[in-house]
Amino acid sequence: MADDTITIFDTTLRDGEQSPGCSMDTDEKVEIAGALVELGVDVIEAGFPIASPGDFEAVQRVARTYGERAVICGLARCRTEDIDRAWEALQDAKNVRIHIFLATSAVHREYKLKMAKEEIVRRAVDMVKYTCDRMASRSDITRPNVEFSPEDAARTELDFLCEVVEKAIAAGATTVNIPDTVGYATPNHYFKVIKTLKEQVPNIHQAVISTHCHNDLGLAVANSLSAIEAGARQVECTINGLGERAGNAALEEVVMALRTRQDYYGVRTNINTPRLYPTSRLVSSVTGMAVQRNKAIVGQNAFAHEAGIHQHGMLQNRTTYEIMRPQDVGFVGTNLVLGKHSGRHALRDRVQSLGYQLDEETLQKVFDDFIALADKKKEIYDADISALVENRSHET
Ligand code: KIV
Ligand code: ZN
Repeated sequence: MADDTITIFDTTLRDGEQSPGCSMDTDEKVEIAGALVELGVDVIEAGFPIASPGDFEAVQRVARTYGERAVICGLARCRTEDIDRAWEALQDAKNVRIHIFLATSAVHREYKLKMAKEEIVRRAVDMVKYTCDRMASRSDITRPNVEFSPEDAARTELDFLCEVVEKAIAAGATTVNIPDTVGYATPNHYFKVIKTLKEQVPNIHQAVISTHCHNDLGLAVANSLSAIEAGARQVECTINGLGERAGNAALEEVVMALRTRQDYYGVRTNINTPRLYPTSRLVSSVTGMAVQRNKAIVGQNAFAHEAGIHQHGMLQNRTTYEIMRPQDVGFVGTNLVLGKHSGRHALRDRVQSLGYQLDEETLQKVFDDFIALADKKKEIYDADISALVENRSHET
């Protein structure tokens, strides 16, 4: 990948599925994987094969069905049995990656792993090498695609993080992912973490730096963008921001921020952006997780304008109040919502698009009726407008 291209690593089927209430069966996962391929994601993390027979089956089917069109990835802890299981599920994919992780922060070392720093480094190195060896058993794989994640990296001492990352790369990791596992980072803090790795890890240029941000403080997208500014070239994200607790960075928001502010970031992605909205709808209907109405990019209100002044501006030139075109994210339908904040310009426009020609006097009467109705009703539909127009037209 060129240095100005950001790899989009989608983990809807793995971290996204870890959202409470979001589990998916194999058919559903294969259907979503198909949509992700159409969307143009580069890497699909299809699951955690050792977690359950169902997860194994889903990863295997996604690998067999879509392994020619995207890189299919499976997650494993730094244990040989996990890595073997992941490889078994993935081995039929033409393009394949194994993602292994091991926590590095003091709190995880002490309470979860009960391992000293030296043991962590040794285990990480051994397991990266083990994964490379397993994958290299396939004759067409010359450089195994292995990702290593120091879990809870954002809360890990920076000097220790640099050491682990350097040794994982020396052992063969081709991507080093820097998870903000508990969504603790802030944009400046995360920028500093990535920049320090870039500047202080001597072999860092041999691997891609990746971001994996959770949204506990609502900063996952901002942190991911900050990491890109510091030199990260892969973003891990999910459709609709699904994921553990408050979720992961939302794919659609990261992608549209990079596209809309190409002038600032100077990077691109391979995402076919008009597929964003349909993919969001699919994931929402499969998981049963509704998308909040005012969610950026894919929420029902994302391109809706109700205020009269805004609607007037929009009718003159859309860029007055829109920084993205709805069709660029696959959003179709009307977006001037008629409500009590709307003005005469928007009403005239809607009346005309419904096929009516009214003189100014009748339009004013219809507008008065409309305002009275809007005080009682949250949204005014086209059928309401037609009824108001018909009513006044019969007077003349
Ligand atoms: O949040 C996290 O740390 C993870 C790892 C498995 C990458 O999901
Ligand atoms: Zn995660």
